[in-house]
Amino acid sequence: MNNNTIKKIATLKEATFLRNYISNLDILLPFDEKLLSGSESPLGKSYKMKNGFSIGNRFCVLPMEGWDSTYDGKPTVHTHRRWKNFGDSGAKLIWGGEAVAVRQDGRSNPNQLLINENTVDSLHDLLNTLRKTHRERFGTTDDLLVGLQLTHSGRFSCPTKHTVAEPQIIYHHPELDKKFKNNTKVTLLDESDLDLLVLDYVRAAKLAYQAGFNFVDIKHCHGYLTHELLSNIEEHDKYSGSFENRTRFLRDVVAGIRATVPCLEIGVRFSAFDFSPFVLGKDKKGILPPDLQVPYVYAFGGDSTGVGIDLTEPYRFLDLLAELDIELVCVTGGSPYYNPHIQRPATFPPSDGYLPPEDPLVGVARQIEVAAKLKAYRSDLLIVGSCYSYLQDWLPNVGQYNIRNNKVDFIGLGRMILSYHDLPADVLEGKHLKRKKVCRTFSDCTTAPRHGLISGCYPLDPYYKNMDNSKKVKDIKKKSVPKKK
Ligand SMILES: Cc1cc2nc3c(=O)[nH]c(=O)nc-3n(C[C@H](O)[C@H](O)[C@H](O)COP(=O)(O)O)c2cc1C
Repeated sequence: MNNNTIKKIATLKEATFLRNYISNLDILLPFDEKLLSGSESPLGKSYKMKNGFSIGNRFCVLPMEGWDSTYDGKPTVHTHRRWKNFGDSGAKLIWGGEAVAVRQDGRSNPNQLLINENTVDSLHDLLNTLRKTHRERFGTTDDLLVGLQLTHSGRFSCPTKHTVAEPQIIYHHPELDKKFKNNTKVTLLDESDLDLLVLDYVRAAKLAYQAGFNFVDIKHCHGYLTHELLSNIEEHDKYSGSFENRTRFLRDVVAGIRATVPCLEIGVRFSAFDFSPFVLGKDKKGILPPDLQVPYVYAFGGDSTGVGIDLTEPYRFLDLLAELDIELVCVTGGSPYYNPHIQRPATFPPSDGYLPPEDPLVGVARQIEVAAKLKAYRSDLLIVGSCYSYLQDWLPNVGQYNIRNNKVDFIGLGRMILSYHDLPADVLEGKHLKRKKVCRTFSDCTTAPRHGLISGCYPLDPYYKNMDNSKKVKDIKKKSVPKKK
């Protein structure tokens, strides 16, 4: 696709313009023209969980990491401000807050939150900031469900210095080993390492419960360790080979949590499909690696072409979650490191990215369709959808349609929360969107941390716009963001 033909969403000001554009792209992306508010709003309807808990509406804040904790893994004022905004958003489901490492060597960066005996009180305070803010603005937290996302960054571990990767991998991946080759030592984790990691997750879950969280998310997405477990297809130990082996880690973690903190709910965010890694092409667009080995067998939920979807195993994964009595499921796709255009479609790529190889709306429609298929397959599970921010001014319209038609149970918001944190409250109160706050997918929230700076919406949020970092981000972008020839 020629990038000149990608229309900016902000220019599609009328429903007919958007409808015609979608039809020219030959994708399915229905939306409601008229938004409903108050008691009529599908987005304002509560959701009753199997355990009887009623979640107050259908907006969900997705996990959004800030790269802004202290070196020993505690929240800073920036982290508190972000979580305050989560509480002030109006969303009644807070999926995980952000990725929190279960141990030091699994941190994605030296400023990632860490959960252990020394940080648990500070995580309790962080949760209280969110809950207090929510109570002050919306009157109650009785219908607010808040989880904590637990992670080990695996191949993307970088715990000590922003510039030094310290990958911990579970298998040699022909494409990713090449793409992320560096001169640092790579640790290959074996079966006994994974046995110990199970215990770390269980310990972390116990601490999360102690801190007051309603659930923990055993994150299985975006190329991190537990996602990579799902594509560990060549059998060499009890965690690799068959579907049963590849999900053993999850089953063991869940069994450990149930035995230790039976009252804690468990959720799973997973990349329900994946593509091959993409690389920078000659015209700065993302392309498949020219020497890609096909069939490409390392994409969980992939069809072995490297760019197609086969949901046979993701369906099986949902069956497993149901068997494990896990109701909370958050659907995402791909990875921000090797195929960001399918994970978080954007007009402007981050500094280490590439120009979109497809209209970003195609990426949005893909994730929406996958979530809808999973919901249709297991209507008994609570399914959260991701990837809505690129829809910008049309986000509520697509969201309302999807909720009204049971395509998904919750509309998850990621980047939009960074620029316009209380969009959910405005929509539910029937207010017009504040156009100046709408995320236009500039990707500064990713570019900044790729260069060791804290994340945030530098273009639109005055808090970040007025920081010294803002100029640094601009300079980085001038030098490194791929531009059209
Ligand atoms: C700055 C930034 C931080 C993120 N942090 C996390 C995270 O901690 N955990 C996670 O599962 N996803 C994380 N994501 C992915 C988002 O949750 C979400 O899936 C993605 O941005 C697509 O949703 P959106 O279109 O609403 O932005 C992050 C994304 C961005 C841009």
